[in-house]
Amino acid sequence: MLVVKGRGSASRPMLNPTPVTQHPPARWAPDSWKSKPDAQAIAYEPQALEGACARLKELPPLVTSWEIERLKRHLAEAQQGKRFLVQGGDCAETLADCRSPVIANKLKILLQMSLVMIQEGKRPVVRVGRFAGQYAKPRSKPTESRDGVELPSYFGDLVNRPEFSESARRADPENLIVAYSHAAMTLNFIRSLSGGGFADVHHPEFWELSFFRGAGMSDTLRAEYERTTKQLAAALRFMEALGENTLEELTRVEFFTSHEGLSLPYESAQTRQVPRREGWYDLTTHFPWIGERTRALDGAHVEFFRGIENPVGVKLGPTVGVDQILRLIDALNPQNEPGKLALVTRMGARRVSDVLPSLVEAVKKAGRLVLWVCDPMHGNTQAAPSGLKTRDFDDILREVELTFDVHEGCGTSLGGVHFEMTGEDVTECIGGAAGITVDDLDRHYASACDPRLNYRQALEVGFRIARRLGSHAIPSRG
Ligand code: PEP
Ligand code: CO
Repeated sequence: MLVVKGRGSASRPMLNPTPVTQHPPARWAPDSWKSKPDAQAIAYEPQALEGACARLKELPPLVTSWEIERLKRHLAEAQQGKRFLVQGGDCAETLADCRSPVIANKLKILLQMSLVMIQEGKRPVVRVGRFAGQYAKPRSKPTESRDGVELPSYFGDLVNRPEFSESARRADPENLIVAYSHAAMTLNFIRSLSGGGFADVHHPEFWELSFFRGAGMSDTLRAEYERTTKQLAAALRFMEALGENTLEELTRVEFFTSHEGLSLPYESAQTRQVPRREGWYDLTTHFPWIGERTRALDGAHVEFFRGIENPVGVKLGPTVGVDQILRLIDALNPQNEPGKLALVTRMGARRVSDVLPSLVEAVKKAGRLVLWVCDPMHGNTQAAPSGLKTRDFDDILREVELTFDVHEGCGTSLGGVHFEMTGEDVTECIGGAAGITVDDLDRHYASACDPRLNYRQALEVGFRIARRLGSHAIPSRG
């Protein structure tokens, strides 16, 4: 069935900018992406894929349209500098990590970072996890060779298994159903915890703040972080002492989900129309994003994501051009709807100051509403002497700081950050006050893909960003 998109109806105020693209957009349907090239297509057995997708279509959605619309409103506020987005989680979620301590620790670090930012930045935060569906990974090569044997690459647990054997690397469409079920279990636990099970982690006295004592931290910073922590604890005690909110109400926190919308069979099978709303919703997640490798204008991913109502992110690396960005905006948010489109820049600490300003200026000049988000991870990956992938904490911090500087210089606002991080005590990124070196990397390197910040490194970054947010005035409300 072909449908014409119904955005821009009377119910949504739009600014209707002049599009860069002159011809009207082609008709869209949940499967119109199938006629476009997919740079990361998986070779499934067609009948088995069709069977799995048919079942996925019948299964209940993981999220709802009203949650999606609520997130869009939050993101619209973040666009205006009135709120800040904190998005983070694993590079690749695994089925094996669908366990209570791992999930609880992910929420804990996201919540703690956000509390520090609220305290210092004096503005609300919207928390979005890379979880409950971050199971598909783009790869630079479709195959991997070891000792003369060539097998398909590991594309994430949504597709195949990491072990290097023919059966493990076979793309099995049943994995779509298995991954969906694990996303549902993860989300079920997240919803329970965020509904009131978080009493302790609200309180800095229960946090792991030993990184304050790290040799890499100056006395001034340490004193500043200790002051923030004390003020935060006092503010929380004060709210509780008011007695108007029960502890349970105070510990109710809102989390949204996100993942790279890489597998279009998975995304489109859960894309539906819902009663009393216009348009189509991708109900696998609140906030899917298009990766750096699949953002081709004429590709299958842009085709699919231009047709859904969810807010959508697009990763932008240092090779993107102004014209490409403006065309992506035209395709993904033709009506200039607030909160609809996030541009997630991942330029690398070395390139960001050269590359980003002209892009930001062009989007601003074109009058396009976007949420600017900084992903300081993916432009800063390097190989350690052992061959393990790592990232330097200083590069990560520097890219965030320089991105803030660029937006300040352009008169725009950085509305959020996007991290690969975990609540576990892993040794994958080097540096930070905890002083992880390349020699520590194989002590606890657990990522199924890219290196993540560990609990202490993530909290330290949170304090740094909070400090930067605190030095900026917030635009007045209303
Ligand atoms: C990712 O977010 O894990 C990823 C692959 O990012 P990018 O598309 O920016 O390379
Ligand atoms: Co990654």
